[in-house]
Amino acid sequence: MKVDLYERIWIWAAALMIIAFLAAVIFSAGSHAVHPPSRIETVDPTKVLTEGEFTQAGVTTREDGSVLVTGLARMFVFTPGVMRVPAGVPVTFRLTSPDVIHGFQIVGTNANAMVIPGYVSQFTVTFDRPGEYLVLCNEYCGLSHHLMQAKLIVEEAP
Ligand code: CUA
Repeated sequence: MKVDLYERIWIWAAALMIIAFLAAVIFSAGSHAVHPPSRIETVDPTKVLTEGEFTQAGVTTREDGSVLVTGLARMFVFTPGVMRVPAGVPVTFRLTSPDVIHGFQIVGTNANAMVIPGYVSQFTVTFDRPGEYLVLCNEYCGLSHHLMQAKLIVEEAP
């Protein structure tokens, strides 16, 4: 079978593009930790409002000085609506939703997670710059999606 020269050129061009894209994905995953969350923790979404850790949504300081934020995202509020955390300390967020998929994006930082009913989204961030940060839902979740926001206050380290 004879393959036209132009066709061969395009076959190789397409193959090289795929290799380049794969390499970019692998490189960003390895060097910049850009990847989907790798841990999976499930929770019963019908019970998160009535039992377990999410009934006590809030900010707590652990024994080692790190901070834990337990939070709920639901139509169309975040609980807690205002979070106060110290700067320069690892802050671990544990988030879930009792209804639909929401987003949890801390504007101006690289903290950005999907909050999915049935799962616990967990990530840890250290905020270096004190200040007020806007937390937005960036997954369309219903008619008042655009009103869904919270505030994160990063306070000067003690
Ligand atoms: Cu919650 Cu959009």
